[in-house]
Amino acid sequence: MDQLEKIQQLKKKRNAIILAHNYQRADVQDVADFVGDSFGLSQKAVASGAAVIVFCGVDFMAESAAVLNPDKIVLMPELSAQCPMAAMITPEALKLEKQKHPGAAVVCYVNTSAAVKAESDICCTSANAVKVVNSLDEQEIIFVPDRNLALYVAANTKKKIIPWGGYCPTHHLILPGDILLEKEEHPDAQVLVHPECRPDVVALADKVLSTAGMLKYATQSDAREFIIGTELGLLHRLRKENPQKKFYPATAYAVCPNMKMNTLGSIIRALEKNEHVIKVPENIRKKAKQALDRMLEAGRGD
Ligand code: 13P
Ligand code: SF4
Repeated sequence: MDQLEKIQQLKKKRNAIILAHNYQRADVQDVADFVGDSFGLSQKAVASGAAVIVFCGVDFMAESAAVLNPDKIVLMPELSAQCPMAAMITPEALKLEKQKHPGAAVVCYVNTSAAVKAESDICCTSANAVKVVNSLDEQEIIFVPDRNLALYVAANTKKKIIPWGGYCPTHHLILPGDILLEKEEHPDAQVLVHPECRPDVVALADKVLSTAGMLKYATQSDAREFIIGTELGLLHRLRKENPQKKFYPATAYAVCPNMKMNTLGSIIRALEKNEHVIKVPENIRKKAKQALDRMLEAGRGD
């Protein structure tokens, strides 16, 4: 029996669903029941009737699925798939920041631990950050942990944004020179970039979108060519779903090693051995769930 057959058999046996982020390896994306951006994955985790969720992404995504689904088993095939940006803020540091700005609301990007979410008023993803910020009554917003996303929001809202200093090491590898070079080679291509990119890269974009936003835009647009400023895993779906269009990565260096840790083999092991079960302590889970629920109620922005 090959790996794909084995996975189908185990999924049936365990009443499991496989959720995968758009940056996963191509074969992991192809075996998943749903592939999406952080917002879509949070929605799917809630909507699924499965008993077991195998989450192929990074730590904070599996943790969010566990926060939203206390009655389901959430499995993370590779525990070492940790997002470095999420590790750039702790609940203790956020508490201190809140003391400095007592009138401010806290918006946390989903790329955070459940403990940081528990200290926040509402979560957001790259798909709805501006919408979430504008939905709040407060005029001052502490925005954690991604500085680039915070600056993008600040440029698109009237509210005062207090940014944290975190960043995504993978998106930081995309440089303005890379975009300019690709534009020279493909003058008719539209430039789509992720808001985790540096502000000088965002300034060169035709559109700033989440990964699912890029897929939707590229599919619906009349343009035939696109320069893509995000992690390379997204190119698999872009090309698969739009075979008549051309997609050029802004740089071949934009690989997230953490996102690439899950494999077909680790999915099989996860389902066979029930590894690794992600659990969040109940006091943290309840508070983090409030922040995630508020975000899901606010909806997707693009
Ligand atoms: P989205 O797919 O939500 O745009 O997120 C990008 C990302 O970096 C996830 O880690
Ligand atoms: Fe974290 Fe960046 Fe990797 Fe996303 S792409 S998981 S933000 S390091």
